[in-house]
Amino acid sequence: MEKIVAANLKMNLNYNEIDDYVKSINTFGDTKNLIVCPTSIYIPYFINNIYAVGVQDIDIYDEGSYTGSLSPKQVSSLKVEYAIVGHSERRKYYHENDDLVNLKIQAALRNNLTVILCIGETKEEKNLGKTKDKIKTQIINDLRNINDIDNIIIAYEPIWAIGTSIIPTLDDIRDITLYIKAIVKELLNKEVRVLYGGSVNDKNIESIISVEQLTGVLIGSASLDPQKLKKIKEVVLK
Ligand code: PGA
Repeated sequence: MEKIVAANLKMNLNYNEIDDYVKSINTFGDTKNLIVCPTSIYIPYFINNIYAVGVQDIDIYDEGSYTGSLSPKQVSSLKVEYAIVGHSERRKYYHENDDLVNLKIQAALRNNLTVILCIGETKEEKNLGKTKDKIKTQIINDLRNINDIDNIIIAYEPIWAIGTSIIPTLDDIRDITLYIKAIVKELLNKEVRVLYGGSVNDKNIESIISVEQLTGVLIGSASLDPQKLKKIKEVVLK
């Protein structure tokens, strides 16, 4: 299975930084299977390059009178290939629940976007030993009535690991990765690709990617530094 590196730039980089950023990534060499997810206003600067482009969120409607929202049909027409759905920041700050996430996945698939579905537990849930319960509930609810699992990649992102420099043990990453695969197999009788996300950086990437069940990683803050992203890409996509 080919490895994947996905970069989630979140709501970062100003207009005067984009040019340098794009130029830097264009020097990376082989970037097949590198997916860059910029803030949506910058998509035109990123498309038609040697890496794939994704959006960080998507609307449930294809297009129309939905002021301020991001149309899956429009981004697809821009040759965007991926959509992150259900990121914990969307769930937390914009109150997105599993029902909404489910509709967003359907909208993305309907418009030929590959979904990067983010799931993961809070610190409290982890401490209560409820990690697997949470993961299972999210998978079942987020994937309700969906069977196109070939176009869905699940990113396991423990919320307590995002932006904290703390990562789970490799045994825990392996255990949860296998668990996610087992749940999807049970539901849809298919193999799902799983990424790990949460404080991935150029220092810990070698050990994280040694978890062989992983298809790759989803990177937040480290991806804002092209040199760190390059190092991660070289380790994962070698
Ligand atoms: P981080 O973010 O790498 O900065 O922890 C990961 C994410 O939110 O996808």
